Amino acid sequence: MPKTIITDELYQYCLDKGVREHPALVSLRQQTKVQLENSQMLISPEQGAFLAMLIRLMNVNSYLEVGVFTGYSALWAALALPETGKIVALDISDEHSALAESAWHAAKVRHKIEYIVAPAKESMQSFIAKGESFDLIFIDANKSQYLEYYELALQLVPSGGLIMIDNVFMYGQVLEDNAKKAYIKTLQKLNDLIKDDPRVDISMLPFGDGITLARKK
Ligand SMILES: C[S@@+](CC[C@H](N)C(=O)[O-])C[C@H]1O[C@@H](n2cnc3c(N)ncnc32)[C@H](O)[C@@H]1O
Repeated sequence: MPKTIITDELYQYCLDKGVREHPALVSLRQQTKVQLENSQMLISPEQGAFLAMLIRLMNVNSYLEVGVFTGYSALWAALALPETGKIVALDISDEHSALAESAWHAAKVRHKIEYIVAPAKESMQSFIAKGESFDLIFIDANKSQYLEYYELALQLVPSGGLIMIDNVFMYGQVLEDNAKKAYIKTLQKLNDLIKDDPRVDISMLPFGDGITLARKK
């Protein structure tokens, strides 16, 4: 089967023809790029459009985000959720909350978002203790803790709920045979675990830095 090589021009074509990025998203992405060195932490626009499509297809009403940064992926989710929908957004740091807050307000979706600044694991454990659940959970925080996030997320989605995991390729480093970095080993372990995990249906998608969809059976 011949494969299409995604050149820069073709990627731009995909963004031009396949992504409707709200002006508040464009502005937030640009401000993040101008103000911060690590702006590559944002999901890409086509990933955002994909997330929004999943939210609409699944009629998601409750969305948990693990790793918020400047609020770009949370904003994609908030714009796709219905008026009654709720986002819980977790980040260990509020260093970039001003950018996030101002974009969420500009897009008039601030009321849908509960923003919790604390280690994500602790927040997720407390939701489990309270019997809370979420239709869709997006994992995009500390890579060293991905195994724990995944197990906690499995307890927080109902049957049919979706866990979406970003950076499952870690820029290609998951191919290393004897990975030295602990977080790469963790990602390799997680990818191995999910491949054979009978609790979920899976789809690993080679776009952005690799995304895995795990649907709880
Ligand atoms: C890749 S960025 C998130 C990007 C965001 N999802 C987007 O695409 O717009 C990762 C975020 O995870 C946060 N983080 C790191 N360790 C964390 C932890 N233990 N608990 C919660 N958040 C954490 C970082 O502060 C950072 O803002």
